[in-house]
Amino acid sequence: MANKINVVSTISTILLIFFLVVQVQSAALDVVTKFGAKADEKTDLSKASDIETHFNTLMPLLDAWKEACASATPSTIVIPKGAYLLSQATLEGPCKAPIELQVQGTVKAPTDPHAFKEPKWIEFYKVENFKMLGGGVFDGQGTGAYKREGCDKKDFFFYSINSEIKQNIMFDYLTNAIIQDITTRDSKQFHVNLLGCKNITLERFSVRAPKDSPNTDGIHIGRSDGVNIINSDIRTGDDCISIGDGTKHLDIKDVTCGPGHGISIGSLGKFENEEPVEGITVSKCSLSDTTNGVRIKSWAGEFPGTASDIHFEDITMKNEESNVKLSKISFKNIHGTTALSEVVKIICSGKFSYENVELADIDITYSGPKGPACAAPVPPNPTPTV
Ligand SMILES: *[C@@H]1O[C@H](CO)[C@@H](O)[C@H](O)[C@H]1NC(C)=O
Repeated sequence: MANKINVVSTISTILLIFFLVVQVQSAALDVVTKFGAKADEKTDLSKASDIETHFNTLMPLLDAWKEACASATPSTIVIPKGAYLLSQATLEGPCKAPIELQVQGTVKAPTDPHAFKEPKWIEFYKVENFKMLGGGVFDGQGTGAYKREGCDKKDFFFYSINSEIKQNIMFDYLTNAIIQDITTRDSKQFHVNLLGCKNITLERFSVRAPKDSPNTDGIHIGRSDGVNIINSDIRTGDDCISIGDGTKHLDIKDVTCGPGHGISIGSLGKFENEEPVEGITVSKCSLSDTTNGVRIKSWAGEFPGTASDIHFEDITMKNEESNVKLSKISFKNIHGTTALSEVVKIICSGKFSYENVELADIDITYSGPKGPACAAPVPPNPTPTV
């Protein structure tokens, strides 16, 4: 009898310990109840901009991140429903255990573009096993900035060369990350920039910005390996997805794009020491009212670069204003309508002939006033559009 009781109490002790461990692991770091955040659109989720007047300002998001990052067990940070102001934040690893960031509310940037001291708003840097989800919104409040900065093309070159693009969300050097059910809205310039990431999935991800908002690329990817963008919806004023040098093993699937400039690889060949782009698959995507459909942009310049193993499959297009420009790729099952007579352009430089371009099951119906739809190679060394 005594033995039996011992067994029972041992089991219940084990269960109790197990329960406590589970409790500790799933305890949420709520930025409101635990770190003093206020959903008043005034109190900064991050550091105060003026230390002297905000001596005792809590840094709710940064404080929560610090605690989560130092924790030896997995943590969850919660930004509950409501609207918050965030001036700027870099959430930095490496961290000791996986972190989940639940964004349920709307996080808003300052409206003044000059309030950004750095060309970024929120940055996740060197984090492993990171998950962000929750249905929340990152609102860059950029609508006021579009008019001032968009009309002059010189701005684009200035910003791209100086990496001064004001971006909503930067995922820099993340490994094994999942981003689900998140929306980015009205970024002042690029919405999302992925750099140096390994194995990152964006799922049910939304981008929203007006059709005429300049330079508001949805998702830009560079020097990353193993990026998946699936089941997502991108509506913006520039490229829905732009793929820069050093992108490997990128899978874009079940994505809708438009308005926007389409899905673009490049521009390649603009800078020295660019890394190859390889293993890109764009499948089951639907583009409507985009200016360029799917394309590869390369510069006829002195710098070499390669793009290989690139596949566009099962692409549906509706009312494309311009054309599809492709090189060194296969494309299969492309259906839709076009407003221009030339729907497929294969553009190559004069030095290289195009190799291994496979066209299969292309069915584009011309919906504009001129001639039938056609696929045409164009003269060498064209000037790429930006
Ligand atoms: C990629 O990341 C996900 C999410 O963290 C993880 O579940 C998966 O095992 C990773 N895959 C590889 C090959 O590391």
